[in-house]
Amino acid sequence: MATLPNLPYAYNALEPYICEEIMTLHHQKHHQAYINGLIAAEKQYASATSPKERIALQAAIKFNGGGHINHSLFWENLAPSQKQNASAIGGVLKAGPLADMVNRDFGSLEEMIKEFNTATLGIQGSGWGWLVYDTKNKRLVITTTPNQDPVLSPYVPLIGVDIWEHAFYLQYKNVKPDYLNAIWNVINFEEAERRLQSATSAKL
Ligand SMILES: [Fe+2]
Repeated sequence: MATLPNLPYAYNALEPYICEEIMTLHHQKHHQAYINGLIAAEKQYASATSPKERIALQAAIKFNGGGHINHSLFWENLAPSQKQNASAIGGVLKAGPLADMVNRDFGSLEEMIKEFNTATLGIQGSGWGWLVYDTKNKRLVITTTPNQDPVLSPYVPLIGVDIWEHAFYLQYKNVKPDYLNAIWNVINFEEAERRLQSATSAKL
């Protein structure tokens, strides 16, 4: 059964880029609500007796299951900013396989961020911006998903940014570009590189 994962840092650890109030509500209320919805839908699915009943539950499973998957990835791809604490890792892309691939596929980290933010700002309504590894073409791609749709094969998610209003509104109000610029200070590129290494070493 799905359970709420612990955050790998304190609720105030991403300040000033993402405030404690947002992190607390986002994790304890919003993520928990997706988990509750998923558990309820799976329970109904297990006791459904006809294909029609099961089909009727698929939207709820996709929405709540996607919400659980996406938020679990999101917490792990954030980390306290090195700008606030020299021993922290957030916001720093070190030399290595991920940096090499970012430079190869986008020219520079700055260019990748620019493209990511532009694509993510283009989402109508709620959704997610993603840096993914395309296992078919063996390159990095920026993509978006609407609502709580998760990233699916052949893409493997490396970095996801939640652009639902609940992720930023209390702090950034309607100014999405400020949220999107700020969040790169707390992106955990080491986690993104681990995901890349696991995707490139997997036999797909
Ligand atoms: Fe969210």
